[in-house]
Amino acid sequence: MSKAAIIRRFGGPEVISVEEVTLEKPGARQVVLRHQASAIHLADPLMREGLYYYKPELPAVLGIEGAGIIEELGPGVNDFKVGETVSYRFSLGSYSEKRVIDTHHLQKLPNEIDARVSVAIGTRGLTAQYLLRQLYPLKPEDIVLIHAAAGGMGGILTQWAKHLGVIVIGTVGSKEKVKVAELNGCDYVINYNQDNFSDVVLDITNNKGVPVVYDSVGLSAYKNNLKVLAPRGWFINYGHSSGFLPSIDAMELNSKSLVFTKASLKDFNSTQEENNRMITEVNEMIIGGFIKANITHEYNLEEIGKAHEDISNRKTNGTVILTF
Ligand SMILES: NC(=O)c1ccc[n+]([C@@H]2O[C@H](COP(=O)([O-])OP(=O)(O)OC[C@H]3O[C@@H](n4cnc5c(N)ncnc54)[C@H](OP(=O)(O)O)[C@@H]3O)[C@@H](O)[C@H]2O)c1
Repeated sequence: MSKAAIIRRFGGPEVISVEEVTLEKPGARQVVLRHQASAIHLADPLMREGLYYYKPELPAVLGIEGAGIIEELGPGVNDFKVGETVSYRFSLGSYSEKRVIDTHHLQKLPNEIDARVSVAIGTRGLTAQYLLRQLYPLKPEDIVLIHAAAGGMGGILTQWAKHLGVIVIGTVGSKEKVKVAELNGCDYVINYNQDNFSDVVLDITNNKGVPVVYDSVGLSAYKNNLKVLAPRGWFINYGHSSGFLPSIDAMELNSKSLVFTKASLKDFNSTQEENNRMITEVNEMIIGGFIKANITHEYNLEEIGKAHEDISNRKTNGTVILTF
């Protein structure tokens, strides 16, 4: 048996039910994994509501990223051992004490990285890798704009960007989050709920604008993002926390020869080789101490509804995880 957070219909946090479920025996190339930690992403409440691009079949155990210890091997598993610590991403069911999972999802964790750090950085680290190291060729003298710089994704992006030697302007949504963004390494922090961020960015850059914006906020930042970009600037959107972007106007991009992309991790780690290369680089960044997990909120399974409310209501900063 295992406890799991299940939904039987889409809706608010009240649709989550924590229940004892029967655990199947692991089949061929499967293992039983005892979770030590699960990621909680901003996407999870959207999935619960049925509003995420991936709509799970119901009933579903939520959570798509976990880490823990292998307890039992199914037939034909030769590359993993009982007792090993592993992590995985993009497999529904991480809001559970134990689960059965196909081994092709699993990666062994280096000794230096524990389950909590793994889920706190995991997908976000891979996203930061492609955003900073593959999509736009950052130069040390660049001044970049990173939105929601006190959040999970923004915090990791900021730390990694600083490691690459660039100057970071970060935005945050409240006074309390200013300090968090500074601790992440931001050189300048703007509270975009208090000040018009485009005015401040243009002020900081002597009206030159920035060569790249890393935007996870979407709708509410859209117009000002276009204003703060320098000619030939890159508008990189990788999320839409405040709402979907409007249709992109080609002539608006043409006014400064801007490049727009709405980027998604799945298009950068679709082969095993790409995925492994990116994971290796993220692990090196963690082990080298260049990016820290900054876990600020830990919830248990019974509190998962509250965790969803807190993250959706912007009450959290840093990284939010579920521990067992
Ligand atoms: N494309 C990809 O490959 C990829 C991969 C991973 C994650 N993502 C995206 O990255 C973003 C960040 O994910 P995360 O899990 O690390 O979350 P997070 O950054 O910890 O939380 C989201 C932050 O967005 C800001 N925000 C602005 N407007 C908001 C609104 N109307 N409602 C809620 N939040 C708002 C809030 O910070 P302030 O209060 O400071 O504004 C909030 O803390 C998400 O949009 C996610 O979908 C994309």
